[in-house]
Amino acid sequence: MSVFKAIAAPAVMAVALMLAGCGDDHHDDRLRQAGPHPALADLMKVASADAGARKFRQCAACHSIMEGAMDRGGPNLFGVFGTKFATNRARYSYTAALAKAGGKWDERALDVWMTDPQAFVPGTTMQFRGVPDALDRADLIAYLRTQQPSR
Ligand code: HEC
Repeated sequence: MSVFKAIAAPAVMAVALMLAGCGDDHHDDRLRQAGPHPALADLMKVASADAGARKFRQCAACHSIMEGAMDRGGPNLFGVFGTKFATNRARYSYTAALAKAGGKWDERALDVWMTDPQAFVPGTTMQFRGVPDALDRADLIAYLRTQQPSR
């Protein structure tokens, strides 16, 4: 019987870990901590820049984020947090649509943009379906906020 337990216990653990998803970021626990019907500010309190760094993989096909790295299909996003739309990379050809939208990449703007770029700025060339989960977006914002020049 103890032999069975010795085998079964790790197997159960392994299944639990698999269910939690690869790179468990405590998504559901953090969401609960944010309270019922959390606003963006509530989500930012439980957001994780580390989790955001992992979630940035879905952006990395088009965006580099290392300081000094070249633009890809989209502009390098190092230092983008807090800048005006379409100004972070002087040599990148942003669309007129994004430049004219006029705004600053604060938490709110990034949240709306990542939800559905085309709906926020019709005519943008960011062909991306959006990040549907609000805490995933908050994690990404927390990550972008850390990718700044040090002062
Ligand atoms: C399929 C390619 C693609 C993917 C994937 C993508 N983007 Fe973009 N992104 C672009 C393009 C192209 C632009 C320039 C849009 C324009 O000029 O209208 C852009 C622009 C941006 C800007 C504005 C930058 C500035 O300097 O004003 C931000 C912020 C941004 N993307 C964030 C993200 C994030 C975060 C993700 C992942 C969740 C992501 N993008 C995924 C292509 C992409």
